[in-house]
Amino acid sequence: MDTWFENESFWREGYRFMFSDDAFRVATDQVEQIVALTGVSLGRVLDLCCGPGRHAVPLALKGFHVTAVDASPFLLGKAQEHANRFNVEIDFAHADMRAFRRPDAFDLAVSMSSSFGYFAHRADDRQVAANLHDSLGSGGVALIDVMSKELTGRFKDTWITEAENVMRVERHEIIDNWTRIKSEWILIRDGSVQRFEYCVRIYSGQELSDLLRDVGFGDVVLYGDLDGRSYGPSAKRLLAVARKA
Ligand SMILES: C[S@@+](CC[C@H](N)C(=O)[O-])C[C@H]1O[C@@H](n2cnc3c(N)ncnc32)[C@H](O)[C@@H]1O
Repeated sequence: MDTWFENESFWREGYRFMFSDDAFRVATDQVEQIVALTGVSLGRVLDLCCGPGRHAVPLALKGFHVTAVDASPFLLGKAQEHANRFNVEIDFAHADMRAFRRPDAFDLAVSMSSSFGYFAHRADDRQVAANLHDSLGSGGVALIDVMSKELTGRFKDTWITEAENVMRVERHEIIDNWTRIKSEWILIRDGSVQRFEYCVRIYSGQELSDLLRDVGFGDVVLYGDLDGRSYGPSAKRLLAVARKA
């Protein structure tokens, strides 16, 4: 369970739910918002946990030099196909986010769509934040996009969705003294059932900003969505924009 993210079947079977055509369209718009929110409009960008390249490809189309990192060979393959389709060059790297570190290599680093907080030990998340910090040049900006502790009230216990004739029953439970969310997906197709469990650490705005300052970021601003709204009662997500001094 602690290494749920290494299970390729989870990303393969869950693909249709996480990465629909609509999700790709949304990501293209999000790239415009990322540029507006961070103020970084050109240069070298790291897409950490890039998945199928939803953000990496539109970033490359905007003229960024993109490095896209992921631990899933299946998703990196999808990202390469997506890049080929748009005829863009992306530097793909197969790596664990705890290990990927390229000192002073980037002007911007993004971790999109709840790709932070995957580890059973908090020190591993801290390592990822430190890697992001070290991988930026001075004045570089990191953007982390997650669900937060303040927003977990929006989680229903049980959700049912359907994609490509597969039904997904999704259940969520707050565990470990309100530090992590444990989720269960039951996928049903033609009467056959697959079950997956995963666990993500949930940070409050304060906790995430403290962590980022702790690893050396000078300035951390929180937003409630990529549209730049403040991190308050109307927040939809927790966005941390952290600048390296
Ligand atoms: C929720 S998906 C988000 C993908 C992408 N950021 C997006 O918005 O489409 C999380 C991604 O993190 C990757 N991942 C999970 N654990 C990882 C790890 N330890 N190191 C690097 N990537 C990891 C997964 O393979 C997956 O692509």
